[in-house]
Amino acid sequence: MAYTIEQFQETLTKAKREIAKVVIGQDAVIDKAMIAIITRNHALIEGVPGVAKTLLVRTLAKVLGCDFGRIQFTPDLMPADITGTNIFNMKNNEFNLVKGPVFTTFLLADEINRAPAKTQSALLQAMQERCVSIDCETHPLSEDFTVFATQNPLEYEGTYPLPEAQKDRFMLKITMDCLGPEEEIELARRSLGNDAPEKVLEADAVQTVIPAEELGSLREVLLHVTVRDELIDYVVGIIRATRTDDSTMVGAGPRATQALMLAARAHAIIQGRDFVTPDDIKIMANPVLCLRIILQPEYEIEGMTVSEVIERILQEIPVPR
Ligand SMILES: Nc1ncnc2c1ncn2[C@@H]1O[C@H](COP(=O)(O)OP(=O)(O)OP(=O)(O)O)[C@@H](O)[C@H]1O
Ligand SMILES: [Mg+2]
Repeated sequence: MAYTIEQFQETLTKAKREIAKVVIGQDAVIDKAMIAIITRNHALIEGVPGVAKTLLVRTLAKVLGCDFGRIQFTPDLMPADITGTNIFNMKNNEFNLVKGPVFTTFLLADEINRAPAKTQSALLQAMQERCVSIDCETHPLSEDFTVFATQNPLEYEGTYPLPEAQKDRFMLKITMDCLGPEEEIELARRSLGNDAPEKVLEADAVQTVIPAEELGSLREVLLHVTVRDELIDYVVGIIRATRTDDSTMVGAGPRATQALMLAARAHAIIQGRDFVTPDDIKIMANPVLCLRIILQPEYEIEGMTVSEVIERILQEIPVPR
């Protein structure tokens, strides 16, 4: 079935209502996660311990009818630990594939920077190709295979920071902040009762609003969203400015151009519009660009942040009317 924008909107509203039974607040975070999912991309999630990163991804999987899996990355994790291995079966004298945890739909890859490069690249390859090779044989993953990866703060010992080329594989970074005072009071109050977030999720009180097989047709609604030529120029202008700005050592590459276009279009539809506005682009610029830009060391020492640079670039570039 092909979804109309109205049907998409209806499904989204239902999904948000179900998610809200578990996850308190975090509306902008949920929108960004939805944007990654409906554009069939992957996302980095950043936030201090306990801001409900795990809970969010588990809840999204439940509401969208997708399988959920989690991998805790550690320094001794080998590529085969995530993809799987062929194990010799003595009974029937043949090798049987024991599938690894990437054989799921929504995968939470926790602290990916704690695993060595070889293991990180096995995941990144699976993300890009949506298939894995095990002993020269290629196995397809789910069509909707989506990775949400968290990173351990870099100051920790024994981390292997993701190289820029690998971060580029993620469409955007979702930053999860702590709750506001009223929401935190709600969390505190609910923690005591039967409506505690985990309890609601485990008690199966959350409904699946769309079967996993329909995610594909849901996505097609994006094709009905129009983008004016001036806005395409605007996106390209922003991306190119990140490359020439005095404060940047590495600017955003062509994947960022694509990611910002797709993210802005998905943002428009999440707002219930069938056309992109400059605001869609401005709102998505930071989440898409912040993981791709590296500042010149002297600017970094001065305490400038990538988000500040993006903010300034957005102010400098004329907004199409
Ligand atoms: N916005 C929220 N809504 C509902 N529950 C929340 C929220 N924020 C925190 N919690 C509660 O805080 C606890 C921690 O959540 P969770 O395990 O998902 O955090 P995390 O970000 O994955 O932490 P870590 O980085 O340690 O893995 C859970 O019990 C969850 O119910
Ligand atoms: Mg967690």
